[in-house]
Amino acid sequence: MTTNIQPGTPARDDSALLTTPFGPHATAREVIGGVDLHGRRAVVTGGASGLGAETVRALATAGAQVTVATRRPADAAPLVRELAAVPGAGRVTAHALDLSDPASAAAFARDWRGPLDILVANAGIMALPTRTLTPAGWEMQLATNHLGHFALATALHPALAAAGAARLVVVSSGAHRDAPFDFDDPHFARRPYDPWAAYGQSKTADVLLAVGAARRWAGDGITANALNPGYILTRLQRHIDDATMRAFGVLDDEGNLTPLPYYKTPEQGAATSVLLAASPLVAGATGSYFEDNRQAPTVRPGAVAEEGRPAGVAAHALDPGSADRLWEYATAALRA
Ligand SMILES: NC(=O)c1ccc[n+]([C@@H]2O[C@H](COP(=O)([O-])OP(=O)(O)OC[C@H]3O[C@@H](n4cnc5c(N)ncnc54)[C@H](OP(=O)(O)O)[C@@H]3O)[C@@H](O)[C@H]2O)c1
Repeated sequence: MTTNIQPGTPARDDSALLTTPFGPHATAREVIGGVDLHGRRAVVTGGASGLGAETVRALATAGAQVTVATRRPADAAPLVRELAAVPGAGRVTAHALDLSDPASAAAFARDWRGPLDILVANAGIMALPTRTLTPAGWEMQLATNHLGHFALATALHPALAAAGAARLVVVSSGAHRDAPFDFDDPHFARRPYDPWAAYGQSKTADVLLAVGAARRWAGDGITANALNPGYILTRLQRHIDDATMRAFGVLDDEGNLTPLPYYKTPEQGAATSVLLAASPLVAGATGSYFEDNRQAPTVRPGAVAEEGRPAGVAAHALDPGSADRLWEYATAALRA
């Protein structure tokens, strides 16, 4: 997967960025080692598989009560059973959520009771080969990755505010760098559909969701940050055909998956999510984009650096004006 791994040159002073002792290969459990989450409540979307499941494991093992938000709660049953057997782990349950359906996000929030300390907006889909629309007419990646999470986070805002110091964590991707949000044609009605442009745009929207929430909800004690987990072979790649996987160098001629040297395991890929969700090392950080367990530099468009290195965040994803505009766009889309 080499299309999105062209890191850029820092456009700002790196020394001001928040760092931690953890590097790119730290695991989710390592980054919250010693952190006690008993009494905290968390929701992880897409928590039944991949990075979401590792996020659930780390938070629950540290004592948090975790709700796995998933299209098919039965899929979470093995994880729920596994964590029920871990001494001291918080209770893990599953609740239905289909992010492509705003009514499902509203129903999830309606069913929620009490404060919510941590919301990890992790679920996502990538590179649908053909333009697919939801019943509302929304492009499916934007609907799932961004609009569904916007609907969920805003509906859960009272619960987040009630927690006092809640954290919203939005899982974006380095793919955001290739695709500013197209306010004129977000659903590819007039421009040719491109699977990666649609994914990248939805991931820019994810960063802007964190920036917008950070701006709007600071008075409620809520912090909001986005992150790039890195490169991890999961079910996310299921829409990519074998020829493309071979071209990316991650599938051999016998059909075996072959991670590139800088790829992470799911446990490592979930680390930055868990750091932002629960570590005191990043307490107070808000409106930022992290990767490899540190705040990422802002990079200039088109800048290129070494393959596999942390690649930074594009200015278009951190722009407060775009965050406000997207918030208004998403609010109007949900009302329509
Ligand atoms: N893996 C990587 O290299 C990589 C790189 C950059 C960013 N990311 C981001 O990391 C996040 C997690 O991805 P992953 O790699 O762990 O892939 P994954 O195993 O496919 O997990 C994605 C999760 O999203 C859920 N999901 C999909 N559509 C949904 C919907 N409409 N409603 C509710 N849940 C839905 C899936 O559940 P179902 O079982 O219902 O499909 C699945 O549990 C994604 O946001 C992805 O964009 C991953």
